[in-house]
Amino acid sequence: MQQQLPVLTIPRPVPQQIERRPQENIPAERSQREALKRFVAAYVEERRGELTPPLLGDELRRRAEEATLLAGLEPKYADYVGVLLNNEVWREHLASTPFDRRLLLLPKCLRIEDRCPAPFDDFGLLCKQCGLCSIQDLQEEAERLGYAVLVAEGSALVMALIQTGKIDAIVGVSCLSVLEKAFPHMESAAVPGIAIPLLQDDCKDTAVDVEWVWDFIHLTSDDRTRRMDLDALRVEVDGWFRPDALDEIFGAPANGEAETLARAMLAQAGKRWRPFLTVCAYQALQDDPHSEPPAAVRKAAVAVECFHKASLLHDDIEDEDDLRYGEPTLHATHGVATALNVGDLLVGEGYRLLAECDFAPAVRAELVRIASRGHRTLCLGQGAEIAWMRNPEPLSSNEVLAIFQQKTAPAFGVSLEIGAACAGAGPKVQEVLRRYSDALGVAYQIRDDLDDLETGEDGADDVAALRPSLPLALAYEHAKKEPALRPLLEAAWRRREGMSERAGEVRAAMDRFDAVERGRRLLESYKEEAVRSIADLDHASLKGLLRRVVGKIFSVEIEGWCSEFESRNAAGRPAVAEVAR
Ligand code: IPE
Ligand code: IPE
Ligand code: MG
Ligand code: MG
Repeated sequence: MQQQLPVLTIPRPVPQQIERRPQENIPAERSQREALKRFVAAYVEERRGELTPPLLGDELRRRAEEATLLAGLEPKYADYVGVLLNNEVWREHLASTPFDRRLLLLPKCLRIEDRCPAPFDDFGLLCKQCGLCSIQDLQEEAERLGYAVLVAEGSALVMALIQTGKIDAIVGVSCLSVLEKAFPHMESAAVPGIAIPLLQDDCKDTAVDVEWVWDFIHLTSDDRTRRMDLDALRVEVDGWFRPDALDEIFGAPANGEAETLARAMLAQAGKRWRPFLTVCAYQALQDDPHSEPPAAVRKAAVAVECFHKASLLHDDIEDEDDLRYGEPTLHATHGVATALNVGDLLVGEGYRLLAECDFAPAVRAELVRIASRGHRTLCLGQGAEIAWMRNPEPLSSNEVLAIFQQKTAPAFGVSLEIGAACAGAGPKVQEVLRRYSDALGVAYQIRDDLDDLETGEDGADDVAALRPSLPLALAYEHAKKEPALRPLLEAAWRRREGMSERAGEVRAAMDRFDAVERGRRLLESYKEEAVRSIADLDHASLKGLLRRVVGKIFSVEIEGWCSEFESRNAAGRPAVAEVAR
């Protein structure tokens, strides 16, 4: 259980979904905004020859109105579409501008006005990196890349900077109305500008799609995946799990009950992140990431999902869970013997597919080696949890996280490493993928634990089932300060008689110690660790892809800023709040 854990940084404030007044002329749902971005990208791609930057005011307006109409949207969205269009037209230019000739412009309304310790000078806010708001994250990352960063408003300042001749492209975050005012200045000076509109224009409690900003600030022309449509690729991967596609990949239709059930388990449901990661890693390492993934990679991706589904079948037996995907589990409908056997069959099928992939023998051996190593680690992690169930005692949060790293991270590592091995990646890349997956996997399992607690989906209630969970470990650690509640939490850890019935009290004690909130902060730290782990990767496409993957897997509807952090930060980080006062 003494696993090496990723080094943690101080947990960052965690955004929370809060009620906000949506900006009327920006689509409210993230999925709508993403679909619109894709639509506009396709619109520009089709007219690449006609759309030469800088687009002039009238031209942009006309195109925006046309695209809005073609997208079947109400005219009120035309300004937003105009921003997307302009970004798309400048995209190539930004990508080919060196980082140290770019400017990131952030609006000062992202700070917490009455707490922010940062002074202003002629160039705007001088961030003190107090952590009270999230300006710091974006600023640090952009500066690390080499950007000049300004937290300021006003086109005069920007124009002055441009006139120094040191800036060739701007990534600007601002509300739509300010962008509109800035546009004529940018247009007249032909400044390549990518704009990311805030989701509100209240000048307070503003929100921005942080993933979007990250994608743009990391954009380079070396990253051949930047146009890779990850959503479309996910849909394609989904198609490989249709019953007819599976029959083709496995070489014959299912024969007999065990095989039929195994194929049904693959076809049934699931997010299919793991096969998606395999094909993504492979594609990112190709000269043309848009090329059709070869059949051998498809096989490898399906093999990865075989291992994953087998682990779920066995896990549900081990956890005595009768529901998954909202439906009865196989052991609930067909008995433990059948479910065990179908799981074993899927493991065998996974290894068979890897061994039969159309790659050189050395590559095939490497695929099997990667899979077997991950398989082994996963079983050690599951084993640690099972051993605890038999002999329960309080676990520290580090011990719980070590189990997470063993039981959940390997599936992500195996997926990415197999994809990279199919593309012939060397040990340096594989080492980065392992570190990335360790952090990503732990983050994924933390989220699963938090979701189980919050949604109780599939009847999963770790508290009532007295399972070892991260929030329980965090609550127990912090209960030291309040001895009255510690015996209750200890009894839950030890799965004492009658504790299932006291789940409500245990839950209240967990709330008392902000266990969910603390878990969220850890989740953010591991996500950050995943992003940090790819810093040294010198393959731009793979690096860009891995950065995007974190955003995809943990996509947050709206990333909040500023005043919503205020009270929690003040509570959780008194020293900082003190300085800030
Ligand atoms: C379930 O993984 C097991 C965990 C590691 C939490 P997923 O939630 O990714 O399962 P599917 O692939 O969607 O079924
Ligand atoms: C599953 O962990 C991890 C593996 C399948 C190896 P959990 O038991 O916590 O996941 P769910 O909640 O059942 O999916
Ligand atoms: Mg389980
Ligand atoms: Mg389990």
